[in-house]
Amino acid sequence: MRRLLWIVISVICLPACGFGGSLEPFKEVPIPKSNPQTPEKVELGRKLFFDRRLSGDGTTNCGTCHDPEQGYSDGLELSLNYPTTRNWRNSPTLINVGFQKFLFHDGRAASLEDQALFPMMSAYEMNQNLDFMEEEIRSVPEYVSEFTKVFGDDDITRERVAMAIAAFERTIVSGDAPLDRFLRGDKDALSPDALKGYEVFTGKGKCTECHFGVNLADDRFHALNVPENPEHLKDPRIAATRRFVAKVYHFEDFRTLAEDPGRFLITKEQKDWKAFRTPTLREVAATAPYMHNGIYATLDETIEFFDMGGGKGNTVLKPLQLTAEEKRQLKVFLEHGLTGAPKAFTYPKIP
Ligand code: HEC
Ligand code: HEC
Repeated sequence: MRRLLWIVISVICLPACGFGGSLEPFKEVPIPKSNPQTPEKVELGRKLFFDRRLSGDGTTNCGTCHDPEQGYSDGLELSLNYPTTRNWRNSPTLINVGFQKFLFHDGRAASLEDQALFPMMSAYEMNQNLDFMEEEIRSVPEYVSEFTKVFGDDDITRERVAMAIAAFERTIVSGDAPLDRFLRGDKDALSPDALKGYEVFTGKGKCTECHFGVNLADDRFHALNVPENPEHLKDPRIAATRRFVAKVYHFEDFRTLAEDPGRFLITKEQKDWKAFRTPTLREVAATAPYMHNGIYATLDETIEFFDMGGGKGNTVLKPLQLTAEEKRQLKVFLEHGLTGAPKAFTYPKIP
């Protein structure tokens, strides 16, 4: 009986309770019943994703900061922004975003459908008025006929715009990496160095305590105390963005807030102070710079951070004492083991 209980605990609880889990090969992205996927909806979403009408000044689309040629990120420490403002966080990749249980670095959105309207409305991103956006899209005959085909009538609403974009986002996947072939039984799929790196990743490096499953992420938040960038702390435009977001999320001392509180902003629980969501590591070679604030320009710097036992005062990580050779192999695993075959991207013709 006790043994049975232990088996149940290890299968159900260990991954969920923060003791890590195993890596899994790619599987299909889950599709919510409330937003079934059709080829026409995906195509409509692709057009909207790249349509500059979604921004207030008509200069940016979603792809500006989630660029297919930059790993669906924008290659900057802090993401791009609406003119005269500055963003305060790094643009996360949208690769395999359909697997994420929580969206944003602090997990403040729960579905792609909910998330899509945030950047449009955000004063420091697209700064668009959603009533106006609806009228702009309604005024384009091609969109009217496409919405009718996809949704059954010509009612163009912000919710339907978000549904189409979400359907497109669920097609942005990476799942044919050497790691997938290796996990399905092809023992030669990883190069000798990548295989050694895999052993560090799952063994001495303890990376699978948090980076596991299909997406190499645990859907949890951890306070690793990633350092702030002193340059960013000095910029009044970034301070304005930080305080604005904190105000919207009813953070009491928003006006004196001088750093990124992470998940605390949402839960107001002390354990979440400066905790951020574990990101996917798929295609990580293409998504530099790293961490919520882009503080590390390279994978070497990021590996160094974990080897040192994380940031000052954190209670989550311990120094790993990896050898130079182990760090090199770990990087080979991250670069080659987690990179799928290159995919040609065709940009849509915007009506
Ligand atoms: C000006 C840059 C910018 C634009 C434009 C932009 N985003 Fe983002 N996006 C970001 C940043 C920065 C974050 C992270 C913000 C945070 O965590 O607080 C983000 C986060 C996301 C996420 C969450 C990803 C994850 O892994 O948590 C999704 C999904 C997303 N954006 C989709 C979109 C869509 C759809 C559009 C267009 C409607 C869009 N973005 C436009 C910068 C941008
Ligand atoms: C305790 C959980 C935990 C462990 C253990 C862990 N990570 Fe992470 N990892 C995270 C979190 C959380 C972040 C995001 C931190 C942030 O944004 O500030 C992250 C970020 C990263 C990033 C940056 C990804 C990006 O797109 O910004 C890389 C690379 C990475 N981890 C690799 C590793 C490696 C390699 C190991 C093992 C040596 C490891 N991690 C161990 C939780 C963990």
